[in-house]
Amino acid sequence: MPTEVIAWRAARAGLRAIALGCALVASGCGGGDGGGSSTSPAPPAPTPIPPPVGDRVLVGAGDIGECGLAGAEATGKLLDGISGTVFTAGDNAYYQGTAQQFQQCYDPFWGRQRGRTRPAPGNHEYESPNAGPYFDYFGEFAAPAAPGFYSFTLGAWQVYSLNTNIPIDAASFQLQWLRRELQAVASPCALAIMHHPRFSSGQHGSDRRLRDIWSVLYDGGVDVVVTGHDHAYERFAPQDPDGRSDLARGIRQFVVGTGGANLYRFGAVAANSEVRGEGSWGVIKFTLRSGDYDWEFVPVPGATFRDSGTGTCH
Ligand SMILES: [Fe+2]
Repeated sequence: MPTEVIAWRAARAGLRAIALGCALVASGCGGGDGGGSSTSPAPPAPTPIPPPVGDRVLVGAGDIGECGLAGAEATGKLLDGISGTVFTAGDNAYYQGTAQQFQQCYDPFWGRQRGRTRPAPGNHEYESPNAGPYFDYFGEFAAPAAPGFYSFTLGAWQVYSLNTNIPIDAASFQLQWLRRELQAVASPCALAIMHHPRFSSGQHGSDRRLRDIWSVLYDGGVDVVVTGHDHAYERFAPQDPDGRSDLARGIRQFVVGTGGANLYRFGAVAANSEVRGEGSWGVIKFTLRSGDYDWEFVPVPGATFRDSGTGTCH
């Protein structure tokens, strides 16, 4: 199993607290110079070793485990051949996200990636009370205490996995947390994963309920949003929270509801939609670098739709 270095935000916060504590202790003790102490001066603090910032791969999709279809098995096999961190963008196990559906419709196909999977919940998980089986299945990786939203570091990138099935208005606990995180973490590049798209040409369409979360992400300089919910692939040009083209500060959104569930047809094409692929299961593979990134839609064998490109961070 390839290893990705993932520094959890919580761990980072803990390390910062320790470092701060050491600094406070050092200044409080005054060291050995002129402090009248008979003890030796404290040794200088070691220079922190920055985390490696080489290429990192993030790969996954939403809308995955639907029993009776061959999709999740095929996309799961794609993951076997791609190193890096796996994400899910919700609706992991159809149709109610029960424990049995996780065991029968998700686990046989994507379950062997669980140790490197960073999940997000979808509306179908919440058809079970409080998405209980989802949190049971993914355990601490699903951030059950939050509930269901968290961030982690991947090389030079900060990744936010959000829960769009609970309150996401401007005053919500989740958006207050997100605002604080975006201010606290000085990351040159950032990507957010959530189930529901703000913009979509699929049958669910664009959703103004996501506007507040997009405003926080936009103000925080986030570069990329990845979603599911509409069971197709769609890539948008960089946009602001109101759907206006914004090549300087806009967020590029991908809809990747192609993890294995029944596939949808597109309806009216939304503004700034650049590429649409319907009828193909597959996963999106991001190669994240310091300052830019590649994306590649990898279809299952037999499907022909492809998309790839490169973007730069703000
Ligand atoms: Fe959904």
